[in-house]
Amino acid sequence: MPATIIIGTQWGDEGKGKVTDWLANEMDMVVRYQGGHNAGHTVVADGHELKLHLLPSGVLYPRITSVIGSGLVIDPRALIKELDELKEIGLSEPNLILSANAHLIMPYHRLLDQASELKLGKAKIGTTGLGIGPAYTDKASRVGLRVQDLLDMKIFREKLEVALSSKNQVLTKIYGLEPLDADDIADEYRGYAERLKGVIGDASRVINEALDNGKNVLLEGAQGMMLDIDYGTYPFVTSSSPIAGGACIGAGISPIRIKRIIGIAKAYTTRVGSGPFPTELEGDTGETMRSVGCEFGTTTGRPRRCGWFDAVILKYSTRINGITEIALTKLDVLSSFETVKLCVAYEYDGKIYDYMPYHQTVFHGCKPVYEEMEGWQSDISSATSYEKLPKAAKAYIDRLQELIGAPITMISVGPSRTQTIIR
Ligand code: GDP
Ligand code: IMO
Ligand code: MG
Repeated sequence: MPATIIIGTQWGDEGKGKVTDWLANEMDMVVRYQGGHNAGHTVVADGHELKLHLLPSGVLYPRITSVIGSGLVIDPRALIKELDELKEIGLSEPNLILSANAHLIMPYHRLLDQASELKLGKAKIGTTGLGIGPAYTDKASRVGLRVQDLLDMKIFREKLEVALSSKNQVLTKIYGLEPLDADDIADEYRGYAERLKGVIGDASRVINEALDNGKNVLLEGAQGMMLDIDYGTYPFVTSSSPIAGGACIGAGISPIRIKRIIGIAKAYTTRVGSGPFPTELEGDTGETMRSVGCEFGTTTGRPRRCGWFDAVILKYSTRINGITEIALTKLDVLSSFETVKLCVAYEYDGKIYDYMPYHQTVFHGCKPVYEEMEGWQSDISSATSYEKLPKAAKAYIDRLQELIGAPITMISVGPSRTQTIIR
C-alpha cells in the first residue's frame, strides 16, 4: 500500500493539523517525520480543540497507531506533558511508537537557542527558543543523545558528560551563563525514561510492516516548504527538512513507497519569526487577516505576519515536493474583502520573475506583481460543496489552481471537521 505525505507549502501553520485529522479517518497509522515541539498543529473535533506539538494529528481516533519518527528531535518533558494533557481531557492513551533513533533535546539546547538569539539581536532568526536548532546541530556533529540512550542510563551518562564538558564552556565563557550539572540532568532524564520506556521502539520497521500489510499510512510534515533548511529562506528557516524528500529520511521508508503528496496551502500567506516575505501587508488589510484568521502562533502565541497569497511560492513548492494535490485552507478568512489580490510574479531590478529566484538578494528585494480579483463578501463558513460557493470564490480557487499547477481537491472553510469541502 503506498503512503501519503502531507506537507506545508508556505511558512508553516497552513492547517496541516486540521487536514491530517480529516484524512486520518481513512488511515491506520499517522507518522510525524521531522521537527520537534516547535510545531503546533490544531485539531478541532469531538468538542475538543487540541494543540499538538509532537504527537501526530491522528490521536483523536483510538484505532490509529501514532508514530514519532527518527527525523525528530524530542524534548521528553514536552512529550510527557502532551500525553498528560490528553489524559486530562478524558482521551485514552494513544497507541504510540517513539523512534529509538530520534534525538533528544537537552536542557543546554534550550539555553543555547535562547542565548544565541539574544546575542544576534536585530539579526535574530526568531526561533521558538525550544532548542530545536542546537539539537539538530549536535545530531550532525555526532555528539547528540538519542531516545534509545534513555534505555541504558550508563551510556546516557557517559555521552552526557562528553557533551556537557564542551557545552558548559560555551554556556559560561561565551554567553556568561551558569554551567549545568550532569547529575541533575541524568536524574531528570531518568524520570522521563521511566515514563517513556514502554513506547520506545523501531519506528521504521513498524511503518514498513504496516505498508507491507496493506495499511494506510499518512506522513505528517511539520513547518513548511519555505522553512526547509536547504530550500527555504536560509538562514531564516528551521533546522530540518519538512519537504516531501524529508519524509522518507525521517520515517525510514523508500521513496517508491510514496504515491500521494498533499500540499496544504492557506488562501493567503503568514509567517512567524524573521525573514523575507514579499507579500507581507503591514496596514489594515494584514490586521484584518490576523484578527479574522486568529493568526497567533500555536506554540509561542506570537502574532503571525500576514499577506496575500503568493503563487510563486506555491509553484516552487509544487516543483520541489512533486505535489499531487492541494488542500486550500482558511478561504473563509478572505470573505470580508471587496477585492482579493494574488501575487503572480516578482519584480526586481526591472526584471520579472514568475519562478522562485535562486538568489537571496533578489528574493529579499523583490516587489510582488499582483492580480486583483473580485471578492465574494459573504459568509462561506457553512458551505458544504464547491457548487454552493459564491461565483467569485470559485473564480479565485480556479485561478489559484491554474497558477499552482496542481489540482485543488479539498477546500477548508473553518477549523472544524465539518467545514471541509471535497471536490
Ligand atoms: P498547522 O501548524 O499547519 O497545523 O496550523 P496551525 O494549527 O498552527 O494553524 C492553523 C489555525 O487555523 C488553527 O487555529 C486551526 O484551527 C485554524 N484553521 C484550520 N483550517 C481553517 C479554516 O479553514 N478556516 C479557519 N477560519 N480556521 C482554520
Ligand atoms: P507548524 O508545524 C510556523 C519558525 C520559527 C522561526 C523558524 C526557526 O506549526 O507549521 P525553530 O524554533 O524551528 O528553530 O525556528 O521557524 N517555525 C515555525 N513557523 N509554524 C511552525 O510549525 C514553525 N516551526 C518553526 O518561528 O521563524
Ligand atoms: Mg502551527
